[in-house]
Amino acid sequence: MAQQADITAMRRAVELAARGLGSTSPNPVVGCVITDVSGHRVGEGWHQRAGGPHAEVHALREAGVLARGGTAYVTLEPCNHTGRTGPCAQALTEAGISRVVYAVGDPNPQATGGADTLRAAGVEVVSGVLADEAEAVNIAWLTSVRHGRPFVRWKYAATLDGRIAAADGTSRWITSAESRADVHRLRAEADAVVVGSGTARADDPHLAVRGVDAAVQPLRVVVDTEATAVKPGARILDDAAPTLIAIAEDAETALPDVVRLPRAGRGLSVPALLDALHARGVRSVLLEGGPTLAGAFVAAGAVDQVVGYLAPVLLGAGPAALADAGIGTITEALRLDITDISDIGSDIRITATLKGA
Ligand SMILES: NC(=O)c1ccc[n+]([C@@H]2O[C@H](COP(=O)([O-])OP(=O)(O)OC[C@H]3O[C@@H](n4cnc5c(N)ncnc54)[C@H](OP(=O)(O)O)[C@@H]3O)[C@@H](O)[C@H]2O)c1
Repeated sequence: MAQQADITAMRRAVELAARGLGSTSPNPVVGCVITDVSGHRVGEGWHQRAGGPHAEVHALREAGVLARGGTAYVTLEPCNHTGRTGPCAQALTEAGISRVVYAVGDPNPQATGGADTLRAAGVEVVSGVLADEAEAVNIAWLTSVRHGRPFVRWKYAATLDGRIAAADGTSRWITSAESRADVHRLRAEADAVVVGSGTARADDPHLAVRGVDAAVQPLRVVVDTEATAVKPGARILDDAAPTLIAIAEDAETALPDVVRLPRAGRGLSVPALLDALHARGVRSVLLEGGPTLAGAFVAAGAVDQVVGYLAPVLLGAGPAALADAGIGTITEALRLDITDISDIGSDIRITATLKGA
């Protein structure tokens, strides 16, 4: 059973880790708190960007000599390898830390083993404190390492009766300005934002991040099998963020930034798309629809998390948030666990993950 002081310090470390969301990829987000021998907080840090110092190094720098004999709280097992920076397990030992509390083990085969190194050096090591919260903040990176593909968060904005557009196709705007601003935060956290050709045709979306300080722009991706939806002059082709158009191997196009993928079902292969994005360094995807492409992702078992913005609006007709996902009967229904419900402006935001994921 973890002590309250351990839980309090780890909760702060999780908060610090969250500050790195969107700017550390392909690395994890990590937060670290250091307390001195008498339990006072003397150092804090978080991993701020890939290639920069790890959270432990920032926190050790702030703590200085006060780290000696103290405790380090880290959201992820301290790394054991020399990459662009040195191993944190060694840095903690050299600073004289006598106890390390971490939340989640490092699943990366190249970096794991930090806990063993610390124990071998005589440091007391405790694991699993606040593991659920630390998993949640780092879910994108953990999913990508465990499954070798990007984490996929499917976001939609719907009326209370579950519709994402009116019968005539108009959909601006169903949700409040606050919800739309929140979507920009989700975009800023993602390495890539993906839409289908139907959305590209209907909305000419821009998909870049606006209104988020120091945001790293995601790769904008349109899944456009025949290369007919994205035309020269489309908003997505401006230079606000990089863009990639996924097209069939045999499609003809004059567009420069394309990836050619095999056909599957009614469009392109979703696993091949995710493999191609992973190969480009994408560790997290924000799937912004529309319902047809989202259905294909769900059918492929490729959605890890759903974020639905529900507005107090009724339409009564128009497309549903999710189109055919290959589910024919109620026993096949995909059951989710709700992990968060928040008020956003006049809407509610529901976050859910697959049961047992
Ligand atoms: N409120 C919201 O959250 C929201 C979000 C997004 C969109 N929308 C609305 O949704 C509507 C568009 O939705 P939509 O369902 O028509 O379009 P969509 O899901 O954006 O795109 C569907 C198209 O993607 C292509 N595609 C490529 N690979 C596919 C695959 N494996 N499986 C399925 N499709 C694949 C197919 O066309 P090709 O094969 O010909 O390329 C397919 O017709 C618009 O009215 C838009 O405003 C609303």
